[in-house]
Order: sequence, then C-alpha cells, then structure tokens
Amino acid sequence: MSVRKLFLLPGDGIGKETMAEVRKFITAMNEKFGSGFETEEGLVGGSAYDAHGVAISEADMEKALAADAVLFGAVGGPKWDSVPYEHRPEAGLLRLRKDLALFANLRPAICYPALANASSLKPEIVEGLDILIVRELTGGVYFGAPKEIIDLGNGQKRGIDTQVYDTYEIERIASVAFELARTRKNKVCSMEKRNVMKSGVLWNEVVTATHKAKYSDVQLDHMLADAGGMQLVRWPKQFDVIVTDNLFGDMLSDIAAMLTGSLGMLPSASLGAPDEVTGKRKAMYEPVHGSAPDIAGQGIANPIAMIASFAMCLRYSFNMIKEADDLETAIANVLERGIRTGDIMAEGCTKVGTEAMGDAILAEFLALAA
Ligand code: IPM
Ligand code: MG
Repeated sequence: MSVRKLFLLPGDGIGKETMAEVRKFITAMNEKFGSGFETEEGLVGGSAYDAHGVAISEADMEKALAADAVLFGAVGGPKWDSVPYEHRPEAGLLRLRKDLALFANLRPAICYPALANASSLKPEIVEGLDILIVRELTGGVYFGAPKEIIDLGNGQKRGIDTQVYDTYEIERIASVAFELARTRKNKVCSMEKRNVMKSGVLWNEVVTATHKAKYSDVQLDHMLADAGGMQLVRWPKQFDVIVTDNLFGDMLSDIAAMLTGSLGMLPSASLGAPDEVTGKRKAMYEPVHGSAPDIAGQGIANPIAMIASFAMCLRYSFNMIKEADDLETAIANVLERGIRTGDIMAEGCTKVGTEAMGDAILAEFLALAA
C-alpha cells in the first residue's frame, strides 16, 4: 500500500478540538483498512506565533509543500489582536494558500434533510439544497499590490488595497468551475461587479470566452455579485456551481453556509493545478468556519465541517471515492438520528459535544464500510 502523507495544522481555538476528531478517522482507517496515512503535525496562526513569533514557520511551510494534502483547522482569536499585521494568525493561512498555489477553493453548501429546520430560512427554501461555490483563492484584493496605509502628511492617512486579475487567473478558475459543473447539474453562474469594477469587466469577458471555447455544453449565467447575494437567500436552489473572485467568494460562502443551518457544517477544498509530470495537485482542506474563540476549549464545537473537509480530502487528493461517499453518508445518517451539537440543536434531538459527535460519525462510518 502506498504511503499517503498528511500534514495536520489544527491552528487555534476550536481548530484543535475538531482536528482531534479527524485524527480518530485517520487512525481507524489505518488500523482497519490499511489506508497507509502518515501524519505529521505543525503549528499555524496564533499557536505558531506564540512558539516561533511568526504565523507559520519555514519548517512547517516545507512540510506543507512536501505533503500529499494539508488538513487545516482554524486560526485567530482575541489573544493575537495586537500582534504586528504581517504576523497576524490569518497571515499563516494566506501564505499557505499562496505558496502552495491553491487557486481553486471548492465550498459545497449542502443542506442535509435533517437540518432543513436549523436554517434561518424557511425549510422549503433550503431543503435538498446542493450548491458549490468555486472561489478564486490566490488573487484579487487579498494579494494585489499596492496594499498599504500611507501617511498623506496632512493629518490624513490613506488605506489602499488593489483588486487585480490577469486573464490566466480567470481562465483557470472558470475551467475548474465548468469541469465540476459537468459532474453535477451542468450549470455555472459567474458573479462579479462589472458595473463598477474593471476587474469585473475582464472577469465577465474571460469567463464568457472560456465557456465559448471549451465548455459551451454547460449552461452559463452571469450575475452581479450583490444581486447574487440576494438570490442566494431568496431562492438558492436556482444555483448549481457559482464561480467568483476571492473577496466575493469569501462573503458569498458565509451566506451559503448559513443556508445549510450552521457555519459549523461547511467544508472546503483548496486545490492547485495538477503537476505536469505526476498529475498530482497540491491541496489543503479546511472548514469554512473560524476558530470560534467564544466556545473554544469547551468541547462543544461542531466537528462536522472539519470531518467533511477530510471527506473532501479522501475524494480529491486520494481518489478514495467509496470512503468519501461513506463518510458523507455517515454524517447524514447521524444527523438523521437526531444527534446534534449545540449550534444545530432542535427540539426532540439529542445534544452532544464535539467528541460524542465525532464518535457517532466514526461508528456509523465503520458500520457502512463493514
Ligand atoms: C475564509 C476565511 C479567511 C478568508 C480568513 C480567515 C483570512 O474567512 O477562509 O473564508 O478571508 O479567506
Ligand atoms: Mg471567510
């Protein structure tokens, strides 16, 4: 059996607790199925800052680059509010995305039938929802230069961020969205703000041209990103795949998360381009939620987004399709049985903590595999 190298970066806050649940799956799969996972663990975010004075050490960056896949928990917390900007916890996450060239961020928002009532929207709006947000992750205003605060010398300062996209960046993310749409309902909606932004005009042009050149079998629509946000809460089931830039994708995916009942439910996969020789992609898997310092350390966090991120890792990094399907089914079955963490608790259900939720999903997963 070949070795599968995983690099674990639990990070801060509930990242540590939720990663502990994923570790149980890794151990069980090695023991019961001989899956051959080899794990190493590192520090990122505030934990790395406390230990090394940086948001991720060079040694851990090297391990991330050498791994088949990185599993990432969450970073940040009030403890690090006043650290220098370049060392803030989020800088570790952004460096990983940039240096591993993880340009394609897949954020599926699926409303498990058992959770239709947990959404803040009416059940009929979200029941059966299955959309995929494809967010560009290494460009746009997150990384554009200049990015600075300058002193204007008259008592005023100026804060500058730069939204910038080149043709190839739009082309490659659009291609990922079209390819994925073909495996789903074959529909892509591209979102930008071409009515006010030059980068939006180019985005629209390049997506349209990419569609025409290679993917005309896929249905393509365009929407202004603000209208897209509105449509996501009005009638989200009109969407299949949404492709959008880094900043809009950040916002729209938080909205999409709440459609599913809780931010604690949404996994994500960040993928690089396939290597020309080996065909392998660099990849990192992380929940969409943050470190939730308000509930960290209490053992009550919902581990589902983290566990579902591991399912995406099985699917996209290791092509372990059966295992990934089983794990996703296990999550659905456990929810069906009324087992809930506090964030998705409903009347008549059983409230459990992080560990009990992880254990229930693991037991179900192993039963499905048997
Ligand atoms: C996300 C997060 C990050 C982002 C933060 C933590 C830098 O909100 O992954 O959605 O803005 O991309
Ligand atoms: Mg976000």
